[in-house]
Amino acid sequence: TAQDASLKKVFAKDFGIGTAMSAGQIEEKDPKANALIQKHFNMATPENIMKAEIIHPQWDVYNFDLADKMVAYGKKNKIKINGHTLIWHSQLPAFARNIKSVDSFRTFFTNHINTVASRYDGKIFSWDVVNEALNEDGTMRKSIFLNRLGDDFVTEAFRLAAKASPKAELYYNDYNNEQPAKRAGCITLIKKIQDAGVRIDGVGIQGHWHVGKVPFKEIEESIVQYGAMGLKVMFTELDIEVLPRSFQGADVNQRVASNPALNPYKDGLPDSVQQQLASDYETLFKLFLKYKDKVTRVTFWGVNDGQSWLNDWPVRGRTNYPLLFDREFNPKPAFYKVIGTK
Ligand code: XIL
Repeated sequence: TAQDASLKKVFAKDFGIGTAMSAGQIEEKDPKANALIQKHFNMATPENIMKAEIIHPQWDVYNFDLADKMVAYGKKNKIKINGHTLIWHSQLPAFARNIKSVDSFRTFFTNHINTVASRYDGKIFSWDVVNEALNEDGTMRKSIFLNRLGDDFVTEAFRLAAKASPKAELYYNDYNNEQPAKRAGCITLIKKIQDAGVRIDGVGIQGHWHVGKVPFKEIEESIVQYGAMGLKVMFTELDIEVLPRSFQGADVNQRVASNPALNPYKDGLPDSVQQQLASDYETLFKLFLKYKDKVTRVTFWGVNDGQSWLNDWPVRGRTNYPLLFDREFNPKPAFYKVIGTK
């Protein structure tokens, strides 16, 4: 029956089905979530624990404990692990953010990629080598990497990663890189890597979209254009949120308690929104299936609504509904629509 359907089995011949995993899930401290992970997913990305601030907190200190546990969990449960992420301007450790000299920064950059990527060569399936290097207009984002190393840092990161981990697939990952201007910048960036003779296997489109506004046309154009470059196309952090992202004056620290309007669906999602969400997911999966020769993986950014980062971003403490499973770990109407595309 549809209720018993397993996502990874339903799409087994089409593409991998992934989820982000929290530290608690990696340590198998979340039985309901772990049961769903084992039933539905054959790919997983650590939500935070391979980011530099956690895995490499100081110059010569690496914290491999949770990453090693994730690798073991993947092996035990036949789940392929996507490493996330080697080079990203965000969630960098303080010591790295404070490096002033170009030479020292280059040493950090090289050591970080070599140490982390080589440790997991042959043990993890793939890496998001560089995350979010682009602006919305397709130019390079201002970051400590661009500032210290110049715009070749992306190609350099792939060169180092390919050497340190010849067995892992290597990807560039970003959000909104399905949008025309940013996509054009992304294509230019990837062409540069390819023209340098450096290996890049795929491109990740994060897929943090908004209900009723999923950019289907741009997504389809992107699959076609990236696919034509010989790249695998992945949807790497899929969620479709139902709450507005920005408000006058509101930021991550604004208190929902003192402004209930920030959290309109705390007692439940109106049926019309629930149906729209289900229909958006259905249309998306029909599109993924149409291009199953190019789309190799679809990863959700979290197991269920209660655990989504979107409850705490861009404002903390809200009640969001972006995933296929609800707060009780039950499949939502969107789940049945997704299953029904096959
Ligand atoms: C988010 C995590 O989900 C949160 O737990 C963390 O506090 C911040 O980062 N793009 C990415 C992901 O590539 O790493 C981000 O994950 C979400 C946006």
